[in-house]
Amino acid sequence: MNAIDRRNWLKTAALSGGLTFLGGASALAFSQPSPTTKTSLQDVAKLNSNENPFGPSKRVRQAITNAFDDACRYPSMVFRALLEQIAATEGVSTDHIVITGGSTEGLKAAGLTYGLNGGELIAADPTFQSMLTYAENQGAYVHRVPVDEQMGHNLAAMEARINNNTRLIFICNPNNPTGTLLDKNELQRFCERISEQAVIFSDEAYYDFITEPDYPSMVTLVKKGMNVIVSKTFSKVYGLAGMRIGYLVARPDIAKRLQNNVMAMTNVLAIEAAKEALKDDEFYKFSVAKNIEAKQAIYKTLDDLELPYVKSHTNFVFFKTGRHIRDLMPAMEKENVLIGRPFPPFYEWARISTGTMEDMKAFDQGLKKVMG
Ligand SMILES: Cc1ncc(COP(=O)(O)O)c(C=O)c1O
Repeated sequence: MNAIDRRNWLKTAALSGGLTFLGGASALAFSQPSPTTKTSLQDVAKLNSNENPFGPSKRVRQAITNAFDDACRYPSMVFRALLEQIAATEGVSTDHIVITGGSTEGLKAAGLTYGLNGGELIAADPTFQSMLTYAENQGAYVHRVPVDEQMGHNLAAMEARINNNTRLIFICNPNNPTGTLLDKNELQRFCERISEQAVIFSDEAYYDFITEPDYPSMVTLVKKGMNVIVSKTFSKVYGLAGMRIGYLVARPDIAKRLQNNVMAMTNVLAIEAAKEALKDDEFYKFSVAKNIEAKQAIYKTLDDLELPYVKSHTNFVFFKTGRHIRDLMPAMEKENVLIGRPFPPFYEWARISTGTMEDMKAFDQGLKKVMG
């Protein structure tokens, strides 16, 4: 099989295995299993998991194909080069980096590290749940602090929950599912002050979609030696959600503790994919531009229907339909559009991911039909 044939074979195999993949994700209790009765992704606008439908890029596909030769080896063989590449990208030394199987594994490793032995965590509500539910399973207590009226983090209310058992404060910025972005000065001041009392975890899965100029990553605070952990992922802007690779950035002593709680790490194909993705600037810019275009299309649909929504700094939009999400999801699924999912207490809201313009058209037609 030449490289192109092998790629086509992989693509066909992946499509025909679509159901297995979806089922597998829920079985693994991924952060956001999205129940669906669909058995294939063909003819479906899959807009329920904040993926990037344009990935992997051509260059990355080639790198993955080439990497099969090394798939009989353990990742340690190719791991070091990626570690160095990420460290250079982030401007830190390699002992600040922990490579994980998707950033989910990093989130869980932190939940375990800080949640054990009566540790308490503080997070917004609603926010991304992976770390929080995992920590709760280990016996941690999670303080869930409702978002403010603009659907953003209420940092003052979060601070008010700090007590002697507080080990970690989870800040998902931009936030999933609300799409909000914290004011950069407010965030920075909060992290600088509060990190003296507990570790701040900044989940930056959607950082690349922020369009505000010079918006800082909290890696700047890691570099200052603060009690801050940052998670990043190859799942979103790089379009590699199915490969399962992400990383944490933290002070070396913190990184070492987290590394000890990583269970599976990642794999050879994902490592080669990530190496190439970091070099493929053209695809990165393409993804960012496509996301902006698709988000405008979502806004247009919602404006046409006069439905309220939160201005998003991510690759999804949180909007209010006034219909219970448990009714809306199956109704949209009948129109071949998969949307996300209950985010208590916002049952009359839905989350829609950006997709191809074809997907956006399906969403437009589907929602207009369903909402009457
Ligand atoms: C805020 C946030 N963090 C982390 C993740 C996990 O992504 P992954 O494990 O694919 O890196 C997601 C996935 O949707 C997310 O929304």
